[in-house]
Amino acid sequence: MTIAQLVYASTASTENRPNVEEILTASRTRNDQLQVTGFLCFSNDRFLQVFEGSPVRLSALYARVASDRRHSNVEILGYRKVVRRRFSKWAMGYLANFGDPKGMLFNFSGQGDFDPYGMDFEGAIEFLSEAAHGAR
Ligand SMILES: Cc1cc2nc3c(=O)[nH]c(=O)nc-3n(C[C@H](O)[C@H](O)[C@H](O)COP(=O)(O)O)c2cc1C
Repeated sequence: MTIAQLVYASTASTENRPNVEEILTASRTRNDQLQVTGFLCFSNDRFLQVFEGSPVRLSALYARVASDRRHSNVEILGYRKVVRRRFSKWAMGYLANFGDPKGMLFNFSGQGDFDPYGMDFEGAIEFLSEAAHGAR
């Protein structure tokens, strides 16, 4: 019954430009099968992603995603066991280009740039939760 959350930051590969729509389509099917939920943000060539689900499945999923050549500098921001999911609506929700200059990013960044590497676990979850409010 245990649920865990894993959050990481990464940088889009320049040689191997990621097609995010393609990634999302494949991810949603796969995550559904694994009962993994989560959310992905992409801006300023940076990814921020949270996975939640069974700890064993998250380990396997993370290993697969971290070795994907469409991104690099993959850095785990945090991992923890949780009592409940926060992104249960999404097999993989998505938000990019965070709106107006005084929008979401403004609340989280002193310089208005998206830098997930500077986030700690709590900050990342808060950011992703806020993103989830405005997502499809
Ligand atoms: C930024 C990013 C996020 C990804 N998110 C997921 C995901 O949530 N679920 C998933 O199954 N694959 C995700 N992938 C794709 C995996 O890296 C991998 O290509 C896919 O799972 C197929 O793996 P396979 O070819 O070993 O079967 C992501 C890839 C990138 C670059």
